[in-house]
Amino acid sequence: MNGVFITFEGGEGSGKTTIANMIKDTLTDEGYHVVLTREPGGVDIAEKIRDVIVDVKNTNMDKKTEALLYAASRRQHLVEKVIPALEKGFIVICDRYVDSSLVYQGIARGIGIDEVYEMNLFATDNKLPDRTIFFDVKPEVGLKRVHTDSQREVNRLDLEKLDFHQKVYEGYLEICNKYPERIVKVDAHVNVGEVYRQVLERIREIL
Ligand code: TYD
Repeated sequence: MNGVFITFEGGEGSGKTTIANMIKDTLTDEGYHVVLTREPGGVDIAEKIRDVIVDVKNTNMDKKTEALLYAASRRQHLVEKVIPALEKGFIVICDRYVDSSLVYQGIARGIGIDEVYEMNLFATDNKLPDRTIFFDVKPEVGLKRVHTDSQREVNRLDLEKLDFHQKVYEGYLEICNKYPERIVKVDAHVNVGEVYRQVLERIREIL
């Protein structure tokens, strides 16, 4: 397998989707074959699993059930889409992967990073990215970008949300320290052009 597997990670409003598209265009112009994807990535079985996760009727879903379903959806997407592209020598950029589960399920939901990591190693046959870019943006900045109507009075739900996103943010910083050889942090508070420049530089290091 001689392709390059890159994942993008970060909280809400981190700009990773915008930058992913820009990077794809640049590398494609340079002659690389680039597959830009995100879980469940248009893979039928993975989509169906995702539907169960996001269904608002499933309010009593257990947190480990949720983690297992994310891992199941991830595996199907990996096997059907990511691995075949890597086998053809393509660059695969995936918007969210194992680290999202470590942070959202492991830390923010409180299952524990190590437990979620083990489960994901099984689900992916230990397939970790060659490089992971963490888009570092403080949750209050990210949420403001998403909810442009920031003048509105902050209510209890917003506060709960901020608290959850704060946990996610701290979780990402924790896994950056835990896997320093794989995950690189990019300052995403700056303008889009500057974030793009930093991300491209970190990707070029491994091409
Ligand atoms: P997504 O629809 O990809 O939105 P975003 O634009 O923020 O990337 O993800 C939806 C939510 O699912 C997001 O809040 C993160 C969460 N998520 C997990 O909790 N665990 C996971 O393993 C993944 C992939 C996503």
